[in-house]
Amino acid sequence: MSEDILFQPSTEVQNVAHVKSMKQYDEMYKESVENPEQFWGKIAEKDFFFKSPPISGKFLNYNFDVNKGKVFVEWMKGAVTNVCYNVLDRHVENGKKDKVCFYWEGNDPDDYSEITYGNLYKQVCKFANVLKSLKIMKGDHVAIYMPMIVELVVAMLACARIGAVHSIVFGGFSSDSLAERIIDGKCCLLITADGVYRGKKLINLKDIADGALKLCKEQNFNVKNTVVVRHLGPSAPLSGKKPTSPAAKRPCTSLTTNITEGCDLWYDDLMADASEECKPEWLDAEDPLFMLYTSGSTGKPKGVVHTQAGYMMYAATTFKYVFDYHDDDIYWCTADIGWITGHSYITYGPMANGATSVLFEGVPTYPGPERCWQVVQKYKVSKFYTAPTLIRTLMKYGEDPIKRFDRSSLKVLGSVGEPINPEAWLFYHKVIGDEKCSIVDTFWQTETGGHTMTPLPGCTPTKPGAATFPFFGIVPVLMDEKGKIIEGEGEGYLVFKQPWPGVMRTVYGNHPRYEQTYFTQFPGYYKTGDGAKRDKDGYMWITGRIDDMVNVSGHLLSTAEVESALVEHEKVAEAAVVSLPHKIKGESCYCFVTLIDGFDFTSELVTDLKSAVRTKIGAFAQPEVIQNAPGLPKTRSGKIMRRILRKIARNDHDFGDVSTMADSSVIEVLFANRPTTN
Ligand code: PRX
Repeated sequence: MSEDILFQPSTEVQNVAHVKSMKQYDEMYKESVENPEQFWGKIAEKDFFFKSPPISGKFLNYNFDVNKGKVFVEWMKGAVTNVCYNVLDRHVENGKKDKVCFYWEGNDPDDYSEITYGNLYKQVCKFANVLKSLKIMKGDHVAIYMPMIVELVVAMLACARIGAVHSIVFGGFSSDSLAERIIDGKCCLLITADGVYRGKKLINLKDIADGALKLCKEQNFNVKNTVVVRHLGPSAPLSGKKPTSPAAKRPCTSLTTNITEGCDLWYDDLMADASEECKPEWLDAEDPLFMLYTSGSTGKPKGVVHTQAGYMMYAATTFKYVFDYHDDDIYWCTADIGWITGHSYITYGPMANGATSVLFEGVPTYPGPERCWQVVQKYKVSKFYTAPTLIRTLMKYGEDPIKRFDRSSLKVLGSVGEPINPEAWLFYHKVIGDEKCSIVDTFWQTETGGHTMTPLPGCTPTKPGAATFPFFGIVPVLMDEKGKIIEGEGEGYLVFKQPWPGVMRTVYGNHPRYEQTYFTQFPGYYKTGDGAKRDKDGYMWITGRIDDMVNVSGHLLSTAEVESALVEHEKVAEAAVVSLPHKIKGESCYCFVTLIDGFDFTSELVTDLKSAVRTKIGAFAQPEVIQNAPGLPKTRSGKIMRRILRKIARNDHDFGDVSTMADSSVIEVLFANRPTTN
């Protein structure tokens, strides 16, 4: 039914929008795909600083077709720039020195502060000098494992300033996951903080970081120094924060930070003597800017590499058009900088536009379900960006916590991370947005660097749950399994023809995996791994992952990664994990485990296994259900039939053709073993 409902863009947004009509969108889109050099060349010239400008005729060079040789993408190679200069110095030089860059809102509502572009610039220059004093140079890799504090932005931009490549690991990952990413990414420095409160829970980040470095050492990989931000510790500095900040809940006495002399260095000690002057390192447009690990369907995470100019331009341009950004906006994205959404739409995109954003450390439902709207009212947020899982959580609490606060400043509401169900979309529109905001459901990926399929808030008529149309430069195509193009109405694999500036350039240390994962099944096209449906009006609807990935609360997990955490348990012989729809999280993990002969399946074992996944990956990956599977449905060649397991998880007896199954009697046993709850 939602296919037939059309919502026109908010007139308030439309009146001032950068793109006010579908006609204007169509014209711009046409230019962007037919003449990318002209379209992006104008943007590069107008919106960014290049020490040496892009070279005409060499603006874009690429090969998307594995059959024609190595897959590669280069935008503006030979041009010279610095991303940090573009997101900071440029604004300081252009009269925005005193404009607030971030309103920092702590875990507790009475812990907040703000930092201007001018002050952030000084902090970044200082920390860039600190990095240099630690012998970090252009091309070095730096791991960052931090909470959502200003120092996280300082650390990433300081890396960008000197040409070091940052690899940020989300602060919810475990020691094991952090270690795996440090080793694979060949990081030579770790930046972390003493600890952080998430709601009422105290997390000792330094302990987790120490655990990771111990694991690294065991694998003969030594990281010499760890820089530690004193965020909760006894003399928490107020770097970048107003001295008047009522940090009443800090310092935290229940936190002990173990410091190893000579290896661990306090951030504030290092910053105390650092100079506020640091010239940016001028870099080639195609030098790497950062890597960010994302789950891979084989279970081993992939280091997605993004480069300087193309990524910057794409993050900035999508931010400008998709949120219809204007100078007086107050923008808030609730994501963590540890994920791509935070990289592109908290740091790089908004800052390239000189925007004022809220940087939120806390949990959106702490201390109560009204927190988001309290924050919206407090800062008069006009553009808000979150994930469907939060909207569904808030729906549970009803309208009252929302309606109690003034949300009249809101204009554009964005959604990201997973398909948004029409019910949540309508709640976002009607209740949160009071029917006067434009909703933008933005489909994109770590790999794409920025939005790829999305409405524009001043022109696109929306349908609840549809990602609608492509952003500038994106050419979406639907294909069947065999690579036959599906025209008109239909459903299939979503692939993109021709590159856009933000597309990833490689998988760090493994270019063949890049080619294999994204370009081999459909030569000439980038494969998203998602399915999509085109309706009779040409609207695109993302149907979810086609590969073995589970999207839990907007966090992409590979089932293989969860399986390997389970089989590491001494009692587990084999494990198979499938996704199960979940009312709040979107999807959850349903795990089938086969025990080694002689062990019993007990509730203690279930607890143990859940905790094993938490330890191996992180708390967000904890399985929803663990079921005893004395046998697993397999083909005669021994391949686990996940299609059947998905049916069993859903208690659906209609599993179609089982003729390829080696022993169909296991199905009955598995149905009989379904737990009512874990
Ligand atoms: O399955 C799609 C889903 O999230 C995947 C990308 O995850 P990740 O790289 O972690 O990046 C998340 C933030 C961009 C996609 O392959 N996804 C993301 N946004 C949407 C979505 N699915 C449907 N609708 C969306 N708006």
